[in-house]
Amino acid sequence: MKNYKITLIKGDGIGPEIIDEAVKVLDAVASCCNFHFSYDEALMGGIAYDVTGDPLPQETISKSLNSDAVLFGAIGGPQWDDLPREKRPESGLLRFRKELGVYANLRPAVVYDELINASSLKPEIIKGVDIMVVRELIGGIYFGEPKGRTEDKGWNTMVYTREEIVRISHQAFRIAQKRDKRVCSIDKANVLDVSQLWRDVVTEVSAEYPDVVLTHMYVDNAAMQLVLNPKQFDVMLTGNIFGDILSDEASMLCGSIGLLPSASVGEKIGVYEPIHGSAPDIAGQGIANPIATIASASMMLRYALGEIEAADKIDNAIKKVLSEGYRTGDLAQFDAKEVCSTSEIGSIIANYIER
Ligand code: IPM
Ligand code: MG
Repeated sequence: MKNYKITLIKGDGIGPEIIDEAVKVLDAVASCCNFHFSYDEALMGGIAYDVTGDPLPQETISKSLNSDAVLFGAIGGPQWDDLPREKRPESGLLRFRKELGVYANLRPAVVYDELINASSLKPEIIKGVDIMVVRELIGGIYFGEPKGRTEDKGWNTMVYTREEIVRISHQAFRIAQKRDKRVCSIDKANVLDVSQLWRDVVTEVSAEYPDVVLTHMYVDNAAMQLVLNPKQFDVMLTGNIFGDILSDEASMLCGSIGLLPSASVGEKIGVYEPIHGSAPDIAGQGIANPIATIASASMMLRYALGEIEAADKIDNAIKKVLSEGYRTGDLAQFDAKEVCSTSEIGSIIANYIER
C-alpha cells in the first residue's frame, strides 16, 4: 500500500482545529482509495517562537523537505505583533517559502452555486466565476534589496529578474492550458520599470503557448474589473504584492474567506494551505470553517500526490455538504439548514466520503 509522508504545520489561532479536520478527511479518503498517510508535526509561527525562540526552526524546514507535501494551517496573533520583525510569525512564513523554493502560489477563487447569496456582489455578476490567481511568491518587493528603516525613512525595493518572471510565466501558461486557455498578466507597466520588464518577459514566454490567449492589465484597473466583471478572468498572473492584494479581493467574490484553498509549488516540495489567516478572535471555540483547509488537502492530493480520484471525492463531498445546508457560523445566514461546529463539518465530509 502506498504511504505518503505529510508534514503538518498547524501553527497558531484556529490552525490546529482546521488541520485536525483536514486530517480526518484525508484519513477517510485514504481508506477508500487504498493508500495511507503518515503525519509528522512541525512548529512554525508564534507557537514556534514561544517554544524555540525562532518562528521557523531549522527542523521544520528539514522535516518539510523530507516529506511528500506540507499541509499548513495558519500563523500569527496579536501577542506576537510587537516582536522585532525577524521574530514575528510572518517572517517565519516568508523564510519558509523562500527556503522551500515555492515560487508559484496558486489561489483559485471559485464561486459555489450553493453560496451564491453569500457574496456581497449580485448573483448575476458572480455566478460561474472560476478564477485562478497565479502569484509569484518568493520575489518582488517582499524580498528585494535594499530595504531598511530609520526613524524618518522606510524603503523596500520591487525587483524581478528575467529568470524569476520566466518560471512563474510558464506555470501560469501551463495551468491555463488545462483551463479556459486565457492568461491576464497584471502589472503597473505605465509607471514601474520592473513591470515593464515583467510585461516584456511574459509576452516572450507566451510565444511558446500559442493555444493560450495573453492579455495585460494594469493592477489598478484589475482591482476594479474584478468587482465589475469577474467572469472575464481565467488565469490572473501576478507578482508577489499585486497577487497578495488581488487574491484577497477575488476571495470575497466567493462569499467567505473560509472556503478558499491554495497551493504553493516550486521545484521541491509543495505547501497547501487555506488562504485565510489564524483568526485569533475565534480560536479554540470550535466555530472556524474548516472547508478551506479541507479543500487545500484536496489540492495536495491532486497536485502533489497525483491522487485525482481522491481529490475529486473530497471536492464532491464539500459541494454536497454545502448543498445540503450544513454551515459553520460564518455562513449561517446563507440558506443554512443546520449550523455546525468545526469538527461536525469535518465529520460530515468524512462520512460522505466513506459512504
Ligand atoms: C498571504 C499573507 C502573507 C503574505 C503574510 C501573512 C506574510 O497575507 O499569504 O497572503 O503577505 O504573503
Ligand atoms: Mg495575503
